[in-house]
Amino acid sequence: MEIKTFGVIGAGQMGNGIAQVVAMSGLNVIMNDIRQEFVEKGVKAITKNLDRSVDKGKMSKEDRDAVLGRIKTSVDIKDMADVDFAVEAATENEPLKFQIFKNLDETCRPEVILATNTSSIPIGRIAFQTKRPEKVIGMHFMNPVPVMKLVEVIRGLATSDETFNVTWELAEKFGKTPALANDYPGFIANRILMPMINEAIFCLYQSVGTKEDIDTVMRLGANHPMGPLTLADLIGLDTCLAIMETLYDGFKDSKYRPCPLLRKYVEAGWLGRKTGRGFYTYD
Ligand code: CAA
Repeated sequence: MEIKTFGVIGAGQMGNGIAQVVAMSGLNVIMNDIRQEFVEKGVKAITKNLDRSVDKGKMSKEDRDAVLGRIKTSVDIKDMADVDFAVEAATENEPLKFQIFKNLDETCRPEVILATNTSSIPIGRIAFQTKRPEKVIGMHFMNPVPVMKLVEVIRGLATSDETFNVTWELAEKFGKTPALANDYPGFIANRILMPMINEAIFCLYQSVGTKEDIDTVMRLGANHPMGPLTLADLIGLDTCLAIMETLYDGFKDSKYRPCPLLRKYVEAGWLGRKTGRGFYTYD
């Protein structure tokens, strides 16, 4: 089946980034969220990114307009009846994702692959919500999506070879490099990255160093492009906590316990860049 129209559920920082790279690859996109203001915010973020490329001379105004012209917005999941492949990039919340997959399963044609951008929830558990588990797969983009080269492709127990091959080739079409992970909590990327971020938060919690020093040590001492606390603010502290909870629940191993300071920040609504305050403050 030729994939011409790609559905994205969620217009937040991951969803709008995915919609942008898909539209840039020449496919049509339907970007869906539950409220009009959310999809409008998503389109605004994409437009800002593309405008920056135009200003830098990396993209023509005509190409920018063509990319934007390929993105339709929607606030009704029934619009997914028109897509040839769907990826869900909603908040990292299990009951929410389960409901979305039930809705997608009812709405999308039976041959359509349903991918999830989940950062840690087992694919098998999500696939079980549908009548097409062989067509459910993880397609995990990294933040910021337009810049990061990796797509982690996660095979569930029931994922078919055909579903895997189509997803892998799509990731390449989007200009990304796919890597295969099997279905265990956190997969590869967050199994390794998130405990490091959590440990950095423990260092702050135990006053081993200031936030600036912790970040400087990892930036200059380990050549990371950003320090772990800056990165946590970029990812979103609520997402970091949700991933740590999934690792902890999935493995029942105390090495994955979330730092109490992380929980405290999330409870206070200090979620990082998106709320203007996390470990750092933002305009
Ligand atoms: N959206 C689009 N483009 C962006 C961007 C954004 N949010 N942020 C930066 N860019 C672009 C810039 O425009 C610039 O483009 P050009 O090269 O065309 O000029 C380029 O990226 C480099 O940006 P900067 O020069 O401003 O800054 P930088 O060199 O520090 O790079 C960065 C910024 C790419 C974000 C870099 O700091 C980095 O790689 N950080 C680590 C990111 C990371 O680890 N992401 C993974 C998070 S984990 C995850 O996503 C998985 C999960 O499930 C939680």
